[in-house]
Amino acid sequence: MSFTAPIQLPGLSLDPQWYRRAVFYEVMVRSFVDSNGDGTGDLGGLISKLDYLQWLGVDALWVPPIFTSPLRDGGYDVADYRSILPEFGTLDEFRELVTKAHERNMRVVIDLPLNHTSDQHEWFQQSRQDPEGPYGDFYVWSDTDEKWPDIRIIFTDTEDSNWAFDPVRRQFFFHRFFSHQPDLNFENPAVHEAVFDVVRFWLDLGVDGFRLDAIPYLYESDEGNGEGEPPTHEFIKALRAMVDKSYPGRVMIAEANQWPREVAAFFGSEEEPECHMAFDFPVMPRIFYALRSQRADELVAVLSETTDIPPGAGWGVFLRNHDELTLEMVSEEYRQAMYGWYAYDPRMRANVGIRRRLAPLLDNARAELELTHALLFSLPGSPFLYYGDEIGMGDNIWLPDRDSSRTPMQWTPDRNAGFSAADPGKLYLPVVQSLVFNYGHVNVESQLAQSRSLLHWVRNVIHVRKAHLVFGLGDIEVLQTDNDSVLAFVRRYQGNDAHGGIHYNDQPETVLCVFSFAHNPVAATITAPGMAGSRLYDLFGGGVFPSFDENGSLTLTMGTQSFYWLHAG
Ligand code: NOJ
Repeated sequence: MSFTAPIQLPGLSLDPQWYRRAVFYEVMVRSFVDSNGDGTGDLGGLISKLDYLQWLGVDALWVPPIFTSPLRDGGYDVADYRSILPEFGTLDEFRELVTKAHERNMRVVIDLPLNHTSDQHEWFQQSRQDPEGPYGDFYVWSDTDEKWPDIRIIFTDTEDSNWAFDPVRRQFFFHRFFSHQPDLNFENPAVHEAVFDVVRFWLDLGVDGFRLDAIPYLYESDEGNGEGEPPTHEFIKALRAMVDKSYPGRVMIAEANQWPREVAAFFGSEEEPECHMAFDFPVMPRIFYALRSQRADELVAVLSETTDIPPGAGWGVFLRNHDELTLEMVSEEYRQAMYGWYAYDPRMRANVGIRRRLAPLLDNARAELELTHALLFSLPGSPFLYYGDEIGMGDNIWLPDRDSSRTPMQWTPDRNAGFSAADPGKLYLPVVQSLVFNYGHVNVESQLAQSRSLLHWVRNVIHVRKAHLVFGLGDIEVLQTDNDSVLAFVRRYQGNDAHGGIHYNDQPETVLCVFSFAHNPVAATITAPGMAGSRLYDLFGGGVFPSFDENGSLTLTMGTQSFYWLHAG
């Protein structure tokens, strides 16, 4: 497979707010390509596929943890923050990844779990053995496991308490996640110093930023629920100040699975900024809800809520990632409905969510795959793709926990889907061989050979998005429609957005985005007095559409589960 370089849009390199118009791609090193035949993906493999990612239109990689780890939580259980798990590669190879990505105008953002470490980490080993020693106070120890009963359990499938007894120190330690992942004690200033050192270490290696894993959970208190406590925000502010001062242009992305206002708190304020970006957890499940309920109202409500965020801050939007499709941000009634639609087999559930990939969730329906991607690429914020979803990869619900959707990337119909030359039995996880998603036909090579494949479609929509800065930089106004199944919003960009000394030197633009979730063709009348007389044409093919009338009313007919992106002028 060879890929010619795509046309370069104005470079991201000089723009301190590059992340606002970047397309991100989450790539698990372990799952992408195995370059040395040991059955596990590695950095060499990822480097060998940078051309593919560039061809696809990816601007930034999000790389889940690659540190030394016992891999009991996909690497989010870090045993040493300053070394790379040998089966993934070396620090030199990591440097090479950064260099080669940068040569392609692509950024590298790594995951940084700071809330907790693995119990294998040297800090924890010393802490449990020597309470009076330098690491004695690095973790949250207690003589009782009854402290903070209001702090909820996150991994409900495996944990029944946030405390675990350590037989060596003969005390309980606090853990928000697995019981092999003790929480670091942020009350201890030495922990701050250690964490700052880790951050500097990776910034010095050239990374363009961090996804701050589990960031709401740093501090606990008797009064709060351990999520977004005031000192947690103070810590993030201090981290941001250090990053801005010493490493301008690098980005901090908050993983905060919370309601919009609480998530927005992780942006901080203009005077005291925290993260540059935060994932939009509330909008994601509502996309899936709309698909099956055929109603747009939940999306209308969440998108109409005005959550003010500081200038320069941006959302990260996503459909799926390496975790379960979390249903924490929906009501119990809607959660049950979604379990019924999307996780009818109990094996498909994990914690408070669904452990399936995008294409199986959507029953491999092409219209739904297009509709969801069209939303992903036009909502306010920067889109985050999950590796393999661009070819509609399947999952394997017979594997435990979230491994169901972390199987090897499917490159070709050859042995191990072209992921690895190892004996198939040696792979870290088996490749998907299901009836519908078998790697024999769901793979990059075969989709490259079909001009109408999902892969080509996704690449095209990415390039259309990137040609219109309004999607990355514009604001949003949700419009009224007379059809419950139809969502309409307008994205507006004033042009010449100036920030950090950079002028994009581009034109103002207005784009009307309309989505029908109905399972049959429908007509919808959209009302937008501000758009009276606006003429419309399709962003993909240039086709001319009916204009808004003089009262700002427009009637459109829509095919089953279809969408329009229309330039308005
Ligand atoms: C969030 C990560 O996304 C998830 O994969 C991990 O299990 C938890 N943090 C705990 O580390």
